[in-house]
Amino acid sequence: MCGIVGYIGSQQASDIVIEGLRKLEYRGYDSAGIAALDAGRIALRRAEGKLVNLETLLRQQPVPGCVGIGHTRWATHGRPSETNAHPHQAGVIVVVHNGIIENYLELKERLIGLGHNFRSETDTEIIAHLIEQHFNDSGDFEAAVRAALSEVHGAYAVAVLCEAEPDKLIAAKLGSPLVVGQGQGEYFVASDIPAMLSHTREMVFLEDGELVVFNRSSMQVSTLAGTPLQKTPKTITWSPMMAEKGGYRHFMLKEIYEQPRAVADTIAGRLKDEEGDVHLESLGLDDKELQSLKKVFIIACGTSWHAALVGKFYIEKLARIPVEVDIASEFRYRDPIVDEDTLTLLISQSGETADTLAGLREAKGKGGRTVCICNVVDSSIARESDGVIYTHAGPEIGVASTKAFTTQLIGLYLFALRLGRVRGQLSAEECRRRVAELVSLPRKLETALELDVPIENIAKAFAHARDFLYLGRGNQYPIALEGALKLKEISYIHAEGYPAGEMKHGPIALIDENLPVVVLVPHNETYEKVISNMEEVRARGGRVIAVATRAETGLRDKCDALIELPETSDELMPILTSVPLQLLAYHVAVIKGTDVDQPRNLAKSVTVE
Ligand code: AGP
Repeated sequence: MCGIVGYIGSQQASDIVIEGLRKLEYRGYDSAGIAALDAGRIALRRAEGKLVNLETLLRQQPVPGCVGIGHTRWATHGRPSETNAHPHQAGVIVVVHNGIIENYLELKERLIGLGHNFRSETDTEIIAHLIEQHFNDSGDFEAAVRAALSEVHGAYAVAVLCEAEPDKLIAAKLGSPLVVGQGQGEYFVASDIPAMLSHTREMVFLEDGELVVFNRSSMQVSTLAGTPLQKTPKTITWSPMMAEKGGYRHFMLKEIYEQPRAVADTIAGRLKDEEGDVHLESLGLDDKELQSLKKVFIIACGTSWHAALVGKFYIEKLARIPVEVDIASEFRYRDPIVDEDTLTLLISQSGETADTLAGLREAKGKGGRTVCICNVVDSSIARESDGVIYTHAGPEIGVASTKAFTTQLIGLYLFALRLGRVRGQLSAEECRRRVAELVSLPRKLETALELDVPIENIAKAFAHARDFLYLGRGNQYPIALEGALKLKEISYIHAEGYPAGEMKHGPIALIDENLPVVVLVPHNETYEKVISNMEEVRARGGRVIAVATRAETGLRDKCDALIELPETSDELMPILTSVPLQLLAYHVAVIKGTDVDQPRNLAKSVTVE
């Protein structure tokens, strides 16, 4: 969490840093700050609340200078306030930080003993003081940063300035993401690619334990110990427009509407029609290794975990390998049974989620093979996994995940098809039939999006409810969970997802005329059973919003609102049923006037435990 940006070049740093922070606000938005160096003097501005407060302050009190750093915060140590906002300054040193310093109390005590005065409750402030202490001892900015960082335990991405060496910007990382952008006679450094996309697409991805020293005309990457490294920049294919709202009221709505394109892009180039197979370019496992797998774990957090639950259906059905799905924060501490014939699939939009990353390391440490499904190129999880299936959703800015989720389902489906083919569980013809259906999915997603206005009307009718229940069976159960999570996250209405058949074992007690129940009832082999569950709700006065396929007749009388989707295979139906639930959550949130793209207490990328 938290986003950092740094700039060194010939333009006004504050403009570039603020523009970058705007793109990183999804990472945290409880306070923001900036520092710039001009004529050897540091000017610092910080403001509690969203970035817009800092922008207002900067209009009154600008910070000139062509070298600068900035930060948008998601509080870990110390409540959101101006004093706790970054940057933190100690003498000539000023620092922005993303991560957590675990030994900060011990270091703080020592520094207090040496005469340092602390103003904030943050762990970050100790980094500034520690660098200052080493700088006072050595008089060398770079050496001071190296010495200080070698003393801290935990996770960090930092950008540091020093008044005494005003033409230098130093950044380093351990456990938190950091990307360098190379421009013409200027450099950028940020927690994520979109912060720099409007200036450059040439990016260098820093690894843990690396440090970069910039001046206006050059940069040098090295290890923390000082060994120089040669890094080759990668050209990012995302366009700057992808990180803009493009006329939509919210990023979330834009991202919901991007799904037909995102799904098509994730499929593109991966289908081998003649062979009736699927090609996954950087899977990292050859056919022999795929054949020898005996078990698959899928681990993830939040929405990505819901994708994992659908993935279990895909892999078990198409490849006939047992699959266990785990929440990453549970997996990492439960001593899972992993061996060389076990594949652990990690799912993460950001590729930086701390629990998922720790789960990956746990699986690797036990000798298992790892593949991730990830949206961010060269993110930590993508780099550390043996193989990667990239989703091509493009940058997802809205905190509530939408297009990342549906493209994760596509990644899982492609992987299950590949596994099914290579293990002889699926014939070329069976694969071809599925692929043909897959190819028609973007068009069906477009049809689903045409339901936006009717869904908005349903939202108007139900937005006053205090609780919602979502029901689904089989591969629709994870979609019920996901629908409930979307509503909770952005409208702050309490919602629960439940397997429809399990309702009678407890939640049925909640049902009355005040409880809207969203029932996922596409045509599949449990259709009649879900209809019975729906009747059970109706019999107790509950109000039903049914999500069904168009071909179903006679459903209209059984529910209070009906959302009719085009038909597709049972396997791909979760991708279609996700769309109306995203739209429902979105419209309820808009009606309630919440902050859709940056809901309270949340951050897009959860890089703390
Ligand atoms: C989704 O709407 C959430 N904001 C959240 O649950 C998210 O899916 C989770 O934090 C995992 O993130 P990741 O996919 O980037 O690992």
